[in-house]
Amino acid sequence: MTASANKGFSSSFGVIMAAAGSAVGLGNIWRFPYICGKYGGGAFLLVYLFFVFLIGMSLLMCEFTVGRRTRRAPVKAYPALAGGKKGWMAIGLLGIVTCFLILSIYLVISGWTLNYFWESVTGTLFGQSGVGFDVHFGDFAAHSVHRVIFMLIFLLLGLVVILCGVESGIERLSKWLMPILLVLIVALCVRSLTLPGAAAGLDYLFHPDFSKLGGEGILAALGQSLFSLSVGMGTMVVYGSYIPADDNILKSSIWITVCDVAIAVLAGVAIFPAVFACGMEPGQGAGLVYVVLPAVFQSFEFGAQLFAILFFLLLSLAALTSAISLHETLTAFLTDAGMKRTPAAVLVAIAEGVLASAVAISFTGETALTAADRTFFDWMDYLTAYVLPPVCALLTVLFVGWIMKKDDINDELSNHGKLSTPWFDAFYHVMVRFVAPVALATVLVLGMMGYIK
Ligand code: PFF
Repeated sequence: MTASANKGFSSSFGVIMAAAGSAVGLGNIWRFPYICGKYGGGAFLLVYLFFVFLIGMSLLMCEFTVGRRTRRAPVKAYPALAGGKKGWMAIGLLGIVTCFLILSIYLVISGWTLNYFWESVTGTLFGQSGVGFDVHFGDFAAHSVHRVIFMLIFLLLGLVVILCGVESGIERLSKWLMPILLVLIVALCVRSLTLPGAAAGLDYLFHPDFSKLGGEGILAALGQSLFSLSVGMGTMVVYGSYIPADDNILKSSIWITVCDVAIAVLAGVAIFPAVFACGMEPGQGAGLVYVVLPAVFQSFEFGAQLFAILFFLLLSLAALTSAISLHETLTAFLTDAGMKRTPAAVLVAIAEGVLASAVAISFTGETALTAADRTFFDWMDYLTAYVLPPVCALLTVLFVGWIMKKDDINDELSNHGKLSTPWFDAFYHVMVRFVAPVALATVLVLGMMGYIK
């Protein structure tokens, strides 16, 4: 079965929920709050908003256009739009490699999250008086078997949804989960904002401190805007190939971007006021969610366990719909090459299970693998966050701006002339051809030169 033969999304609402499901994930709830705090709060937020609406959303529209125009997965989509020239499949292949690597890391972190959710439910997360949560996290990270088991459970959950199909699995799940996610995060925000001393957290998150931003913060904002919208690796080309012919791509892209940004900001509002109200240290980086938050929950006068359950459930669900989109992209690559959907999805799961297990056990402890002072996990993180997605994103905008026929793009964005697109020339001639490529090339060059570690 090819990507085209696979039944797609049934409605515009389904498109928005499924793509927002891919976009909203660990990047919004785990990563955004801590890098926003690190690079000057409101200052980072402003730059991030600028990048996400201009560059990220332009890329989203480009990927959707490529996908819907061809009804193919990326490896075949690009050559199809370039008069059959096979060399263009390189963009798609690069995206596939990127998805494959990202999913392995994503599964490992999702496994930690699922484990925290389980420990919140059983109460073991809080049952170890005297043991700091950093020690607890370290203990968990050092137990290879534990890490692998939770990661595999998560992978299997995703596989089941993929096997149910695009509409009955991915779309249906996303239509349920995204609204639930919104309710959960709003509940957490309310709890956080009603704690005494919460205002300091809002100040930390929103007060613009440009002295902390710097070149590194600007580059991090651009990297985050790509990762968070799931663009730059072909996932949105695959989802684009499932978009109904009458869907308004501009409108859907705006909604998806708004949902993505809103959940990231709400995550910051749910986390920082609580962190400050409890007198905790906000600048814990990646450990914010797994080390600081459990301590914050524990200090609540009432509902510690309930809020821990809600938070880690929220994070696990958000991660699930994102991991599914990566899994689906890899599956669509194989089905587009002629494989049946079930064996394709299972094959992806097996390959990911092996790679993610290696990533999980190489993280710390006796089984840690290192090269040039970085663990295997760090290398994968570096490649998938700062190198591969910007390269792939750059090639995508260059392709759409300079290789694909302009009339084909306008035809697709206007639904064959049915919608008026007065903004098209500005979008195409300014954003796609110049601004996005220059911004992405700058990130890449500076990133490689070591601005971003
Ligand atoms: N956008 C997801 C997040 O913010 O967690 C991560 C992601 C999913 C990136 C799918 C790329 C992708 F293709």
